[in-house]
Amino acid sequence: MRRGLFITFEGGEASGKSVQAKRLAAALEHDGHDVVLTREPGGTPLGDRIREIVLHTKDVPLGPEADVLLFSAARAQHVRDVIRPALAQGRIVISDRFFDSTAAYQGAGHGADPAGVAAVTAFAVGETRPDRTYVLDLPPEVAMRRRQGKPRAWDRFEAGERAFHERLREGYLRLAATEPQRVVVIDGGREPDAIGRDIRRDVEALIEAARR
Ligand code: TMP
Repeated sequence: MRRGLFITFEGGEASGKSVQAKRLAAALEHDGHDVVLTREPGGTPLGDRIREIVLHTKDVPLGPEADVLLFSAARAQHVRDVIRPALAQGRIVISDRFFDSTAAYQGAGHGADPAGVAAVTAFAVGETRPDRTYVLDLPPEVAMRRRQGKPRAWDRFEAGERAFHERLREGYLRLAATEPQRVVVIDGGREPDAIGRDIRRDVEALIEAARR
């Protein structure tokens, strides 16, 4: 491959994106590809610390603009230390969330100025942009039903009301409409095996195209 391939997974809560990211990484590794599976927020020591602040700290008030800057600070380091070097070595990088999460959650969901989000994002990532993004799409009521009975660490983004999840979903669908070459919407309500097969087929085509 002349250069690596950068694939990201996006979606709301309980959309199944993390399962599919892991699954794709395992399948590609099984086929002998050199894969880096990472996630946001996280992926670096700074990212892990910022994850603690933005997701699990109840006593630190944060508005959407501060959130954009914190997620983007983590992203800048993630790109510099993990994603860009791996791509330069020709590896396949799979990230569970990337900059579309900021546009969808802070922009569409929480009302941060979209032009501001785009400017900060461009500064954070430079030329490093995903080759393909899979948005696992699920109606909020289905996602909520899936989440029931699965308690996990307190996460202030999951306390949001239904209207927020609707805005989030619409934000993702708008992104896909704006960048149809990059962003593929997947019906997250289907069987995980079927979703995995579709993604796999699409990625094989990308790998072929990158070889040419
Ligand atoms: P996850 O571990 O389920 O992917 O959750 C991460 C949470 O962080 C999720 O609620 C979305 C949120 N988030 C943002 O709001 N903006 C971002 O830029 C990123 C990367 C995540």
